[in-house]
Amino acid sequence: MDEVARYNVERWKALAQANAVFTRPYLDLDEDSARKCLDPQRRLGEVAGQDVLCLAAGGGQQSVAFALLGANVTVVDISEAQLRRDAEAASHYNVNLNLLQGDMRDLSRFGEDSFDIMWHPYSLNFVPDARVVFREVARVLRVGGIYHFTCANPFLIGLGGKDWSGDGYVLRLPYVDGAEITYQDESWIYGDENPDEPIRKCKEYRHTLSTLVNGLIEQGFLVLNLSEQNYGTPDFEAEPGTPEHLTSIAPPWLIFWATYRPNILRK
Ligand SMILES: C[S@@+](CC[C@H](N)C(=O)[O-])C[C@H]1O[C@@H](n2cnc3c(N)ncnc32)[C@H](O)[C@@H]1O
Repeated sequence: MDEVARYNVERWKALAQANAVFTRPYLDLDEDSARKCLDPQRRLGEVAGQDVLCLAAGGGQQSVAFALLGANVTVVDISEAQLRRDAEAASHYNVNLNLLQGDMRDLSRFGEDSFDIMWHPYSLNFVPDARVVFREVARVLRVGGIYHFTCANPFLIGLGGKDWSGDGYVLRLPYVDGAEITYQDESWIYGDENPDEPIRKCKEYRHTLSTLVNGLIEQGFLVLNLSEQNYGTPDFEAEPGTPEHLTSIAPPWLIFWATYRPNILRK
């Protein structure tokens, strides 16, 4: 395990102990709400019987949602603490999950063409090189399979309420691919339960827009949809410096839907 992985193991252990939002399992799902939470536009079609890899997706949320829809679900996550949340959620619903501790940059335990769907919630920015992950995803995904991932909007990564200057949010960091960015978590990630002990800063890496788009193209992905995600509903009247205000002005996340079609580009 390298320093990048070690940092995240420690951090996610502390985040799980502090019950941060991404570590809270979804325990009130049914088939209908599982579909709404994963795929409100119903782009996935029938999921039952599909082989799904929830990549760096521990915490007991998307994994059980797919399982409730009848998919065969594997979860790979670096954090044992997060995988325990998946195990709790699986036992709550009495569903099976294949839970594996591992790094998203190394999927060598899986053969080629192993999955129909790769579901990759926010985590790509925890590793310095997005292309390494795209290469692995392409290798284990079946032709025609779906790759869904969320990542930081590359122009805004690290921007927070602290950057409100009185008349705008100040961009201070250079726009460089792979640049390390550390920042204190925003308080919303703890909901209303602030941690007893301070948690080490969030350490992320910028992936520029050209890296994201060209990195997908190089591996034979066809982008089906790209959306920007806010924190809840945009609220331009919100108090400056709050997540509602910041994200109404600058959506922090991008969501990509891509399909693996290597033959479109290669003759
Ligand atoms: C924001 S959470 C995303 C998943 C969560 N289910 C959710 O709904 O938000 C990020 C996850 O990435 C995992 N992670 C961080 N670095 C990783 C790595 N190098 N390989 C695999 N998982 C990693 C963390 O342990 C954490 O569970």
